[in-house]
Amino acid sequence: MTKGFLISFEGIDGAGKTTQLNRLIGHLQGLGYEAALLREPGGTAISEKIRELLLDARNQIEPMAEALLYAAARAQLVQEIVKPMLNDGIIILADRFIDSTIAYQGYGRGLDINQLSEINLMATGGLEPELTFLLDIPASLAAERRRGSVPDRLEKEGIEFQSRVRDGYMALAMGVDRIRVIDGTLPPEQITERIIEMVTLFLKGVDGVEN
Ligand SMILES: Nc1ncnc2c1ncn2[C@@H]1O[C@H](COP(=O)(O)OP(=O)(O)O)[C@@H](O)[C@H]1O
Ligand SMILES: [Mg+2]
Repeated sequence: MTKGFLISFEGIDGAGKTTQLNRLIGHLQGLGYEAALLREPGGTAISEKIRELLLDARNQIEPMAEALLYAAARAQLVQEIVKPMLNDGIIILADRFIDSTIAYQGYGRGLDINQLSEINLMATGGLEPELTFLLDIPASLAAERRRGSVPDRLEKEGIEFQSRVRDGYMALAMGVDRIRVIDGTLPPEQITERIIEMVTLFLKGVDGVEN
């Protein structure tokens, strides 16, 4: 029996997170793993209500209020869903997690990174993903990919904001081992291959005794 794992996907909107999450979960379930998709903010009744507040383009939300709303949604998700699933041995694939707070509210909005790390810690009780894939693409390409869909409150922020968030993610990745940066401009199939390769290695390392 394996224990559960948390694998998060990060990157600006349009980077390809949802595309890759859907591919990876199909692969893992095909191998017989029990795996679940979660999205942030969201994943519980309360968190989905907070999500509506956060993404509604008509809402004006102060940066710190924004950070705390994300944290509240995350705290509920961790207690209600993530911890029980991990205890049940489920592999959780999360569409965004703690690194989004640092990238968006820190580098994007300009809030203090140390303070945001504290807030993350309070929300998660210290729970971190085992592995994080950061899909990296230029903000201009991301905007091009999203063209035609109605932008939410954060997507409506201009290219400069998205660029700061992208740079923030890369700065964060430099100091954190679990974050694997992947070139998001590659064809989707190639990205999936790389991700599966890394996840397979990771699962082998963890199941090492049995295999
Ligand atoms: N590697 C890729 N190359 C080209 N287009 C992609 C790639 N990955 C995703 N897309 C397309 O870009 C858009 C945004 O992808 P999506 O997976 O929804 O990104 P995210 O969830 O990070 O916002 C979608 O239309 C998707 O089909
Ligand atoms: Mg998505």
